[in-house]
Amino acid sequence: MATFLRTWSYRFPQLYNSISFLASLSVGGEKRFHFLPLEGLSLPSECKILDLCCGGGQATEYLVQLSPSVTGLDASSVSLKRAVERVPTAQYVESLAEHMPFSQDTFELVHTSVALHEMDSTQLEQILREVYRVLAPGGQFVLLDLHRPTNPLFWPPLALFMLLFETKTAWQLINTDLSQILKSVGFREIQQKLHAGGSLQVIQSRK
Ligand SMILES: C[S@@+](CC[C@H](N)C(=O)[O-])C[C@H]1O[C@@H](n2cnc3c(N)ncnc32)[C@H](O)[C@@H]1O
Repeated sequence: MATFLRTWSYRFPQLYNSISFLASLSVGGEKRFHFLPLEGLSLPSECKILDLCCGGGQATEYLVQLSPSVTGLDASSVSLKRAVERVPTAQYVESLAEHMPFSQDTFELVHTSVALHEMDSTQLEQILREVYRVLAPGGQFVLLDLHRPTNPLFWPPLALFMLLFETKTAWQLINTDLSQILKSVGFREIQQKLHAGGSLQVIQSRK
């Protein structure tokens, strides 16, 4: 599955950004898209935030509006270079999400958007355990990612997008109960909200 468009979307940021922009229209635009996981959170003004799998800083740009202490982590040095250019005020770390170079209890908020669908099931569980480890007690984990549409009208655009750009891990994710895994890892106060006909999910949870 997936096509050359997947490679191109990572090679040419304008293509990635155009796809993201089109996807965000389903929820009212990019600003709203990136603020969806943050809705209703009350955070201390200097809280330490981790943007996990930050890519080119698409969401980091919004997180730095919440706190001066934002770290973006990604496995790709190319993406991190773009993130530094886009959001120079954040700190960046090149690392795998499944083995993060942070002490336990480091962050008050861990955020990740449209990245978990790139992980296989073993990685996914390792990453969620790592997120739990690096979060301070009471800290919050918020995520935005793909979900199985509840409105049938959203199946054709989602399926087309996934066939062109994604691999089998995205199909696995939309058949995965993320809330259940979060619960098994130890997270509590798990709240899932669906958007865009159910094709996007936001989950907020707490350590
Ligand atoms: C689709 S992009 C999402 C970027 C950004 N968060 C956004 O909202 O557009 C997924 C990112 O996850 C990163 N990634 C994939 N697997 C990873 C891993 N195991 N550890 C860290 N980063 C990873 C990729 O390098 C890529 O930048």
